[in-house]
Amino acid sequence: MRERLQELKSEALEKIKHSSNLKELNDLRVSYLGKKGPITEVLRGMGKLSAEERPKIGALANAIRESISEVITEKRSELEKAAVQKKLEAETIDVTLPGRPVKRGSRHPLTKMIEEVEDLFIGMGYKVAEGPEVEIDYYNFEALNLPKGHPARDMQDSFYITEDLLMRTHTSPVQARTMEKHKGKGPVKIICPGKVYRRDNDDATHSHQFTQIEGLVVDENITMADLKGTLEVFAKKIFGEDREIRLRPSFFPFTEPSVEMDISCKICGGEGCRVCKQTGWIEILGAGMVHPNVLRMAGFDPEKYTGFAFGMGPERIAMLKYGIDDIRHFYTNDIRFLQQFSVQE
Ligand code: DAH
Repeated sequence: MRERLQELKSEALEKIKHSSNLKELNDLRVSYLGKKGPITEVLRGMGKLSAEERPKIGALANAIRESISEVITEKRSELEKAAVQKKLEAETIDVTLPGRPVKRGSRHPLTKMIEEVEDLFIGMGYKVAEGPEVEIDYYNFEALNLPKGHPARDMQDSFYITEDLLMRTHTSPVQARTMEKHKGKGPVKIICPGKVYRRDNDDATHSHQFTQIEGLVVDENITMADLKGTLEVFAKKIFGEDREIRLRPSFFPFTEPSVEMDISCKICGGEGCRVCKQTGWIEILGAGMVHPNVLRMAGFDPEKYTGFAFGMGPERIAMLKYGIDDIRHFYTNDIRFLQQFSVQE
């Protein structure tokens, strides 16, 4: 019996030594030390022993149980430590890894274009003025020398809300509103950026909603030469010092005389190409001397004051400056398009 018990002990110790996880170890504990285990089994045969032998075998069995239990406890703490270690290793944070980059947005190319033009004019002493996008007929048309029924109203197909209320078709109404506020006293020197709306079918060069920047200077002794000099500075600063400008006679009801300004085509250098439609010149904006009727209606004396005005489309300017071929790119927000303009500011 002694031998059998010793055998069981060494067998148990051997298995414990090789157990590789806590579950296996627990199973061994149950099987060797539990009531149905082999040691209890051996002790069942104690009845056959002499009275002298019995306590000795009992003591031996207990000692064996204890040592098995001790070894199990040791092994358990060893396995537990190993498990913690493994977990720690798996969870180590590598503080030297580079961080995940934060994706930064950037300002919209159109916003940038508008701000570039604003900055240029602010540098020449202009103030930025704004007006409502839902406008009354009076400021959008009438105060700009476009009375009801005037054929030139057809130049700007409009979204009417009521008979007297519409989405403004240009930023020119801000001219009339600002002059009114000055109560007949100059100087007025403003640029007015903003959204405008027209009943157009959208295509590569047309959009039912786009932006404009309006400029207006009213003071004593303002002449066409002031207009030309201002537009020349604008063209050279925005498109490059090597650009030439030319003024062509045109018609706008709110200016007299009216002109359209072209810049020389950089692509062909004046030879004629697809972009300049073989003319060597590219149309940029409309301008002119403020019509006496417009001055008068806004409370200015046209005998004392004169002024010039101009209106341009930032989309068109950005398209020419950056070689963008479709106005719809500005509004469809394709991130690949927008990212090309996200230079560090
Ligand atoms: N309002 C004109 C348009 O939308 C643009 C324009 C032309 C504005 C000539 C002006 C100007 O102030 O003088 O077509």
